[in-house]
Amino acid sequence: MQTHSHFAIAIDGPAASGKSTIAKCLARELGLVMVNSGAMYRAVTWKILQMGLDPHDTAAIVAALPTLPLTCGVNGRYSTVAMDGKVLDEELRETSVNQAVSIVAAIPAVREKLVQLQRDYLQHTSVVMEGRDIGSIVFPDTPYKIYVDASEEVRAARRSAEGVTDSVAARDKADSNRNNSPLMVADGAVVLDNSDHTVASAVAAALDILRGQGLEVRD
Ligand code: DC
Repeated sequence: MQTHSHFAIAIDGPAASGKSTIAKCLARELGLVMVNSGAMYRAVTWKILQMGLDPHDTAAIVAALPTLPLTCGVNGRYSTVAMDGKVLDEELRETSVNQAVSIVAAIPAVREKLVQLQRDYLQHTSVVMEGRDIGSIVFPDTPYKIYVDASEEVRAARRSAEGVTDSVAARDKADSNRNNSPLMVADGAVVLDNSDHTVASAVAAALDILRGQGLEVRD
């Protein structure tokens, strides 16, 4: 799967486990691009809702998929997602998107399209990619895999501190129980329990794991 010199570090885990923060810091520390794969699922969901489609109407969503004006790019160290050329940001965290994204993300055709876009990043750059199935499905051959976990209480508290209405437990249940690419600890992934870490200590722990997996990291 990785046929060029670029490589991927896979950071998976449940909602609000702190994986984005860790992935961003790792990208900065290691000079890589951080790719937020959840933003791609959110962008498709946002557009589908804008089009007035029912997130449960799989046939209509599959029919609309090829026409979606979705582009993925990079701005500095971070991935971007755009619809009709407009980079999406706050729209992706709307409550309606939080509520529908797990339903849309369970559709195999949606996953197939987005997994391809995720793999395409490696044609241009090495990445720290965060999501749910990065170590299991998107880059199963990468030796660099971390599963970031945290207790349900800590994760719910993080989301409400951000002022976001998001039923983290319900989303995790849906993401873990779907048939297609469920949230799981990938083969070869090391679990990092982020319930009690500071950002700095979590990043240090992640760098230790990556060193153990053979990544050359300067001290
Ligand atoms: O990382 P996030 O919470 O922004 O992701 C939003 C949703 O997208 C998540 O509930 C499930 C889905 N998702 C996925 O199915 N696979 C990924 N690799 C990333 C996200």
